[in-house]
Amino acid sequence: MKYTSILSERANYITTITIHRPNKLNALNIETIKELHDALNRADGDKKTKVIIITGSGEKAFVAGADISEFADFTKKEGKKLAAKGQGLLFDYIENLSTPVIAAVNGFALGGGLELAMACHFRVASDNAKMGLPEVSLGLIPGYGGTQRLPLLVGKGRAMELIMTAGMIDANQALIYGLVNHVTTQEELLPFCEKIADRISKNSSVAISAAIKAINACFEDGVNGFEVEIEAFGKSFDTDDFAEGTSAFLEKRKANFSGE
Ligand code: COA
Repeated sequence: MKYTSILSERANYITTITIHRPNKLNALNIETIKELHDALNRADGDKKTKVIIITGSGEKAFVAGADISEFADFTKKEGKKLAAKGQGLLFDYIENLSTPVIAAVNGFALGGGLELAMACHFRVASDNAKMGLPEVSLGLIPGYGGTQRLPLLVGKGRAMELIMTAGMIDANQALIYGLVNHVTTQEELLPFCEKIADRISKNSSVAISAAIKAINACFEDGVNGFEVEIEAFGKSFDTDDFAEGTSAFLEKRKANFSGE
């Protein structure tokens, strides 16, 4: 697939996907969502990619929301389809991806932009970042998982206030809320995320994938996360990485994981 709205490149086990729609503050249209799905799918299938970082191009925006010009004249049916398609192709897809995905939030993360960041496994923001779900100011509600993921990350009362006021919080407030894990300068944002990615890449990727599944199970209705954990824990004993990890520890050397 030829990309027109994103860039994707790998260096040292890290694939960085950059949303690049400079005239629209990187707003997400359906084509961008399809390209992101394709790039994530490729990176997830690429043995050399151990961590994915998603960021926005330029210094102003991560993603300023879903592309309002694309859905301004949609009907009820089209609106529902847009949300369902986007959630399936991108937001739920990222959350359940086997490869860790870090959002490097480098500016405005509004509406679909914050929803994208929240679907990632965790978030780091630069100090100029501004986050919010302003959909009610457009007569909408968040449609890419925002009403579900925001309360999980910041608590119900804070999510209610942020969504009802259509307000924005800055990076430090987001840090206090637990919406982002770290705040850096804009210059340091990618190097900082790469440092975390580097630490992740030294560990067993097969174990990390199993941990992602087990952690996500904690938030799935009707799923007993403890049982998912027990099952996944047991399966770990069958992996080459378990043999390598434990041998390396006992032999007092660094583990060299194959990811199998
Ligand atoms: N969808 C479509 N286009 C968007 C967009 C979006 N979500 N966000 C920004 N853009 C476009 C603007 O229309 C503008 O295009 P133009 O130059 O052709 O007029 C361009 O990006 C630059 O944005 P602008 O509004 O001029 O920048 P600003 O610095 O004055 O304001 C924001 C920045 C983010 C506060 C403002 O763009 C904004 O409120 N965007 C919409 C946020 C939103 O409601 N998102 C949720 C959507 S569901």
